[in-house]
Amino acid sequence: MSENLKELYQIQKVLNDTGYHDISRISKEIQDYCNEKAISPTLVLKRIETGEPWDYIRGESEFYGNKFLLNRKTLIPRPETEQMVDIAISFLEENPNYKNVIDVGTGSGCIIISIAKVIKDKKEINLCGIDIDKQALSIAKENAVLHKINEKVTFLKGNLLKATELKDGTLIIANLPYIPKKIYKKLDRSVLNFEPKRALLGGKDGLKYYKKLISQIKQAYKSNISLLIEIEPSTLEDLRMVLGNYETDIIKDSRNHNRFVLIRLS
Ligand SMILES: C[S@@+](CC[C@H](N)C(=O)[O-])C[C@H]1O[C@@H](n2cnc3c(N)ncnc32)[C@H](O)[C@@H]1O
Repeated sequence: MSENLKELYQIQKVLNDTGYHDISRISKEIQDYCNEKAISPTLVLKRIETGEPWDYIRGESEFYGNKFLLNRKTLIPRPETEQMVDIAISFLEENPNYKNVIDVGTGSGCIIISIAKVIKDKKEINLCGIDIDKQALSIAKENAVLHKINEKVTFLKGNLLKATELKDGTLIIANLPYIPKKIYKKLDRSVLNFEPKRALLGGKDGLKYYKKLISQIKQAYKSNISLLIEIEPSTLEDLRMVLGNYETDIIKDSRNHNRFVLIRLS
């Protein structure tokens, strides 16, 4: 057996023992990464064994078919979140009076940048990404340059919508920290030990940030404001109480979970 193949089997064994699923793709990526950086796979495997996610080790991830740079202050984009991009694009097509999109809790910028890439010819639509974390924002800006849409998207540091003035005709997209405290404590060690708590924990009921965001939006008294959020499905009933009579669409993810909520707030 060639040295190369032996090395590949060793990588695959560690990935398997650590609970990875897409083993053939990731083992190949690790081998290519080690060759390119001229480092021994043993160094990478030691980090993998501690539970450190491969995407943090290599400093990038894939989202909506595009590469996104990451740092330890950015959440690793989740595949289910890609659906928010599709929902937002359809919404903008069906509601041409909406000329502004704000992505609150932008992290790596994956959602707003993916939208920007699809609608880059629609010059009349303003796009903005907001995050409270300075280091996450700096990666979002790098990603915007990487995807050549840095002139199309503005990035702001702020607590929810505080740094911006809401305009009529705005779609607000938010994948804010939504994991309720009880669920958070039981997450996998690769999430608990490596991903930013600030990006995941949504208070006791998982709705802390969404309640604040909705209250900020209401106080702005603007017309044609819709909000698209990603939620932990078990928090939907509590969210319904917060929303009262607003026109609301619940959208399921690919695993049939109630994951996205589109709310017409005015
Ligand atoms: C679940 S992550 C989502 C990141 C990215 N949008 C994605 O979908 O992969 C939540 C993000 O919200 C940010 N965040 C947390 N609290 C915030 C607040 N009060 N205002 C603005 N952003 C906040 C975190 O820094 C983190 O980047």
